[in-house]
This record gives sequence, C-alpha cells and structure tokens, in this order.
Amino acid sequence: MVDIVPLSSYPSYIDLLPSIQTCNITNLPENYFLKYYLYHALTWPQLSFVAVVRPRNGYPDGKIAGSYPKVVGYVLAKMEEEPTDGVQHGHITSLSVMRTHRRLGIAERLMRMSQRAMAESHRAQFVSLHVRVSNKAALHLYRDTLGFQVDSVESKYYADGEDAYAMRMDLSPMWIDWAEIERKDRARHAKDEKDADEGDEVGELGKKEDEKEKEKMVRVKVGRSLGVGDLVEKNEVQTA
Ligand code: ACO
Repeated sequence: MVDIVPLSSYPSYIDLLPSIQTCNITNLPENYFLKYYLYHALTWPQLSFVAVVRPRNGYPDGKIAGSYPKVVGYVLAKMEEEPTDGVQHGHITSLSVMRTHRRLGIAERLMRMSQRAMAESHRAQFVSLHVRVSNKAALHLYRDTLGFQVDSVESKYYADGEDAYAMRMDLSPMWIDWAEIERKDRARHAKDEKDADEGDEVGELGKKEDEKEKEKMVRVKVGRSLGVGDLVEKNEVQTA
C-alpha cells in the first residue's frame, strides 16, 4: 500500500530527507545537496509530497514515529522567491518515482497535490518547471495528463548541454476565495445564534397549559391506586 503524504506531515520529516535524496539520485542526473531538500521542507512545508510504502504489518506498536517507511516517489516544490515578472508562482524543483512503482498514477497524484497546495496556501498564479526535451514520459505527464503548456525552449539548460522545455500551468482556477468562505461562516454562525434564541421555551415555561393539567391529573391517579390517601398530591386543577 502506497501512501502519499505531505512531507511536513511525517512526525519527523527531516528523517525522510535522505531517503528522498536517494530516490532522486536513483532516478535523475540532476541532484542536490541535502541542505537544499531541508530548505524546501522548512520554507514551503505544504508544497512537497512523498509517496511511501506502508510496512506490510503496519507500523510497530501502531506508531509511525521512529519507523522508516520506504520512499518510492516525491515531488520537491517551492514558491519562486524573486519572480522576475513579480507574479507569485510555484515551481517544481524535482519529481521522480522509483521504477518499481511507475505507471500507477503516483507522479500524477504527487503533482496534483502540490499544485493544489500552491494555489490554496500561496495563491500561486501558475506553476512552472523544466523538463529535458528527450524526456517523453515526463512530457506526457505534464502536457497530456496535467495540462501544462510549453512556454519556451531553453537552449543548453542542462549541464550535459541538452535543451529544456520551460513549461507552465495556470493555477488560478484552483484558488480558494477565503473572504467568501469567511462571509458564509459568519452568516451561518449568525443564523445558528438566531435559531437558538428563538427556539421553543424549555422547562415549565415551555409547557402548554393543557400539558400542565394532564401532568397533575396523572400524579393523583397513581397515588390513589396505591392507597396512600392524604400523602398523594391533590388534583389542584379540580380544587382550584
Ligand atoms: N511513457 C509515456 N507516458 C508516460 C510514461 C511513459 N513511460 N510514464 C508516465 N507517462 C504519462 C502518461 O500520460 C500517464 O498517464 P496514463 O498512465 O493515464 O497513460 C501519466 O504520465 C501519469 O503517469 P504516472 O503513473 O502518474 O507516472 P509515474 O508515477 O510512472 O511517474 C515519471 C512518471 C515521474 C516521469 C517517472 O517516469 C520518473 O520518475 N521518471 C524518471 C525521473 C523523471 O524523468 N522525472 C521528471 C523530471 S522533470 C522535473 O523533475 C521537473
């Protein structure tokens, strides 16, 4: 069973960084110092996700802390810190899935979760990435499955001289209107309070007159049938 979780949700996500780095080194020639992973995890904890294999017999003693699930995929993502055009946007630094776990939809899910987080928590206008022009699998994923578009071709972008497609995808349709959500919350809260104020009266006040009379009658009948005479309550309705 593969779980896809935000990197930040793992009890001590710093523990997972070396496994993510191993996954990266296994799958891609573009590698980074461990501190670069740490920088992503600390600066944009919501944006990076990791696919982990849950241990066959569950976590020891039911505790995730202290156990090391196997990392089979990750997406390392960030917000562009100094966008040249001033437009707030996200960037996919690196994505990969281990060969053993490919074509299961893991990369698609990692990407969609990161994109949603960029739009919802950072109101990113778009997400960008670079991909080798020869990387057919990744190109299919970005363009055909997710809907990215090629923005430009960057000549000799990679260290070995290969060109990159610079791609991007609009995230504004995923934005959440927090002001509208707060307005609806306030309206719902006000309605709940109003309903509570105008509810039926409770206790003695809430009882209708005929209900009160019926209650008194019943008490007397019970007392008489027990034969306890003067000790029972009187039928005050009739006496009055
Ligand atoms: N050939 C053609 N299309 C593919 C292939 C493939 N081998 N693999 C994935 N796709 C496309 C398809 O459109 C697929 O949709 P479909 O299954 O409905 O046809 C879609 O991607 C989603 O596939 P997933 O199962 O989610 O992809 P997977 O989990 O296998 O991971 C990935 C794809 C990440 C490209 C994987 O092959 C990989 O790790 N490759 C090596 C590392 C790499 O190239 N990473 C991207 C570098 S660019 C960057 O990091 C910004």
